[in-house]
Amino acid sequence: MISIKGLSKSFGPLKALDDLTLEIGPGEVFGFIGPNGAGKSTTMKLLSCLIRPDAGTASVCGHDIAGDAGAIRRNVGYMPDFLGVYDDLTVDEYLQFFAAAFKIPRKQRAVTIGSVLELTDLVEKRHALVDSLSRGMQQRLGVARVLVHDPKVLLLDEPASGLDPRARIEMRSLLLELGRMGKSLMVSSHILSELAEMCTSIGIIERGRLLYSGSIEDAYQRTRAMGGSQGECVVVTLEADSPPPSTLEASLAGDDRVASVKASDADRTLRVHLTTPGISRHFVIERLAAAGGRIASFGIEEIKLEDAFLKLTTGALQ
Ligand SMILES: Nc1ncnc2c1ncn2[C@@H]1O[C@H](COP(=O)(O)OP(=O)(O)OP(=O)(O)O)[C@@H](O)[C@H]1O
Ligand SMILES: [Mg+2]
Repeated sequence: MISIKGLSKSFGPLKALDDLTLEIGPGEVFGFIGPNGAGKSTTMKLLSCLIRPDAGTASVCGHDIAGDAGAIRRNVGYMPDFLGVYDDLTVDEYLQFFAAAFKIPRKQRAVTIGSVLELTDLVEKRHALVDSLSRGMQQRLGVARVLVHDPKVLLLDEPASGLDPRARIEMRSLLLELGRMGKSLMVSSHILSELAEMCTSIGIIERGRLLYSGSIEDAYQRTRAMGGSQGECVVVTLEADSPPPSTLEASLAGDDRVASVKASDADRTLRVHLTTPGISRHFVIERLAAAGGRIASFGIEEIKLEDAFLKLTTGALQ
C-alpha cells in the first residue's frame, strides 16, 4: 500500500529525510517512532504530496507521489499533528466542510458523516463547537475528518499525543478497528509504548535515517541480542534510617560484575548497572547489608525498548 524507495528531503543544509526505504502492506498498522525532528512529519507530508522529495520515489496504492496528486489525495487520509480548528464551527459543519472539499455528493454526506461519527464515538458531539471539545475528542475528530472520503491509507501524525491514559485507550481501539477494516495505517509517535499494543510493525527513525523496521517482537529480540554485553540495572532503595547511599557506593565498586553505581542521597537510591545479563543479583544485597545498608526495596529497572534500541543502534552506526 505504501512503498518508499530512497526518499530524501533537505531543508537548506538540513537533511530532514535521508534515503528512506520502507514498505507497508494492506491492513498493516505501522508505528513510526522517533524523537523530535527525526523526519516523521516530513515523511507523511511527502506521502500526501504536500511537499516534494529531492530524491527517491514513493507510491501509495500504486500511485506515484510524483505523478497524479489527485489520485494520492483520494487514497490517502493525512491527519497533521495539529488540528486546524476553525472558529465557531460545529463538529457537523467541520465534517461537512471536508466532505464538500472531497466532493462527496451532497445527498451522501449525512450518511457518511453519521457513520464516521459513530466510528469515532462522537455522535453525541455532532452539534457541539469544535473548540469546545476535549483534546481526546479533537484528536478523534481529526481521525473522523480523514475518514470522510474513505481512504485506504491513513497517515496519522501523533494521534495519541497529549491524551490522558483513557483517551489513549480509546484512540488505540479506534485505530485497531481501522486496521481490522483493512486500512493501512502509518501512525507516528515519540514513544513506542504509546503505540506498541496496536502496531503490527514499527520503524524507528532518527535524524532522517531509518534505524530499524520490522515486527515489534523482532525488535525486542534484536535489542536483547545486541544488549548481550549489557546487564540489567538494579535499583535499591534504602530505609530512612540507613546510612546514605553515597557512603555505600564504595562497597560495590571494584567488583567486575558491576559496570557502574550511581547513588542519590536525595532519593535514597542506588542504581547498580551489572556487566552481564542473567547473573545472580544477590551479591548486591549482601554487599550493601554488610556495609550497614538497610534495604527498603530491591528491583530491576525495565529497559524501555525505544531507549535501548536507539542507544544500541546509533552505537552500532557510529
Ligand atoms: N518547512 C520546513 N522548513 C525548514 N525545516 C524544516 C521544515 N519542515 C521540517 N523541517 C526540519 O526537518 C527536520 C525533520 O522535521 P519533522 O517535522 O519531519 O520531524 P518529526 O519527526 O515530525 O518531529 P516532531 O516529533 O517534532 O514532530 C527538523 O529538523 C525540522 O526542523
Ligand atoms: Mg512531527
